[in-house]
Amino acid sequence: MTIRIAWGITGCGDHLKESLDVMKELTIEHDLDVRVFLSEAGEMVVKWYKLYKELKASFPKTYSERSPNVPFLVGDLQLGKYDFLLIMPSTSNTVGKIAAGISDTLLSNAAAMAMKAKVRVYIFPADQKSGEITTDLPGGKKLTLTMRDVDIEAVDKLRKMPFITVMGHPDEIRDIIRNHIETKEIIHSSSVKEKNREIEPG
Ligand SMILES: Cc1cc2nc3c(=O)[nH]c(=O)nc-3n(C[C@H](O)[C@H](O)[C@H](O)COP(=O)(O)O)c2cc1C
Repeated sequence: MTIRIAWGITGCGDHLKESLDVMKELTIEHDLDVRVFLSEAGEMVVKWYKLYKELKASFPKTYSERSPNVPFLVGDLQLGKYDFLLIMPSTSNTVGKIAAGISDTLLSNAAAMAMKAKVRVYIFPADQKSGEITTDLPGGKKLTLTMRDVDIEAVDKLRKMPFITVMGHPDEIRDIIRNHIETKEIIHSSSVKEKNREIEPG
């Protein structure tokens, strides 16, 4: 069963490499149709970290934000062309917009409209626990950052919203994909059984 995933990448350097690595692995392990959507800042940040070529080579269907509705990801999500929307890693900017109901960028718009159409959204916010984090700079050096309450509160808001799941780490996408495959297979085999019953004589 092919799982169709719209994968949004925001302008978030933190956990960017881990996100790319896990998605590359899963694409090899499973039958996945992944389309990548880079926010405007996402394209820039991926290039800063020198991961653009690797991303394009692994995921040839990679598109960049031109406006909140171009590419028309929203339309395809609402028409059920994807099993789910994944935003990983997510900036606190995109988290804040979704939490506040703002949809003026490609990925905040995609999340809002997917949720309205009851299409599942999975998001990994880089800033989600109070305290300090150590992140990798584009050149490889480390930087320590102190999380802001406003960003943590926005993540807590997302946790309470229907049709969006906050991930604690990019690795959690492994089980999410496995669950989607299992569910799709169960639905498929029960609809095949149903069809066979309809055509059985008597
Ligand atoms: C090299 C680089 C790395 C960045 N890393 C992060 C990050 O880890 N987390 C974050 O919240 N913002 C980060 N930013 C800032 C965002 O890119 C910026 O807030 C942008 O407006 C986010 O837009 P988007 O949410 O539409 O992608 C980074 C910016 C640059 C230039």
